[in-house]
Amino acid sequence: MSSRTFWVGGNWKMNGSVAAIKELTNTFNAGNVSSDVEVVIGAPFVYVHLLSETLRKDWAVAGENCYVKASGAYTGEISPEMLKDVGAKWVIVGHSERRNILNESDEFTAEKCVKALAAGLKVSLCVGELLEEREAGITQQVVERQLGAVVKALKEEDWANIVIAYEPVWAIGTGKVATPEQAQETHAAIREYLKTAVSPKVAAETRIVYGGSVNAKNCKEAAQKPDVDGFLVGGASLKPEFLDIVNAAQ
Ligand code: G3P
Repeated sequence: MSSRTFWVGGNWKMNGSVAAIKELTNTFNAGNVSSDVEVVIGAPFVYVHLLSETLRKDWAVAGENCYVKASGAYTGEISPEMLKDVGAKWVIVGHSERRNILNESDEFTAEKCVKALAAGLKVSLCVGELLEEREAGITQQVVERQLGAVVKALKEEDWANIVIAYEPVWAIGTGKVATPEQAQETHAAIREYLKTAVSPKVAAETRIVYGGSVNAKNCKEAAQKPDVDGFLVGGASLKPEFLDIVNAAQ
């Protein structure tokens, strides 16, 4: 069981509608959830304002990405400042779907972290390996390469506003959830890496959450692991069962 404040994020990805969001927020707002869990819901850009207006006030709203400029001739992009302006308090950065589908580099991801923090947003930073990388036994090297670009770009105090989401790509959307032991092993290795790459204080205080096919059934055991500080949930965050995941640590 983690000694850090449990953190549970939802990542709706490219899903939702005004009607569906209103229905889901009614369900979430009526939910009986633990008060000592930090909950953040990531929504598509076009719904961030609606969600920040309708979602319960003890939960926060996140964008699912951001650009690296505050404004300008960047057609179609959304700045961290704009996310803040419409009520987001967080932004998800470096999701594997942006790294692997949209070919966003470790350095570009690190720059997004810098600019999001500078705009006053907190960051859920995603890292994780491909199936072939896990099968090749290089999970830790991949995750440390992804984190290393961010370590280079941030100051020690920035880490107070970062949650790391370890999301093995082979578990995302596949129903093949990592075992609690796999999650604990990688989270512990990430924490060990932070100890020397940043500082023992940052290593001890940074929440490291697991993402990848989390649901109400498989979250309880993982939530008891010492270095699992919560979850970043995709599909199940679009359903009422998300409330059970928020309460997983109880
Ligand atoms: O960011 C969370 C997401 O990648 C996990 O998706 O549907 O496997 O829970 P899912």
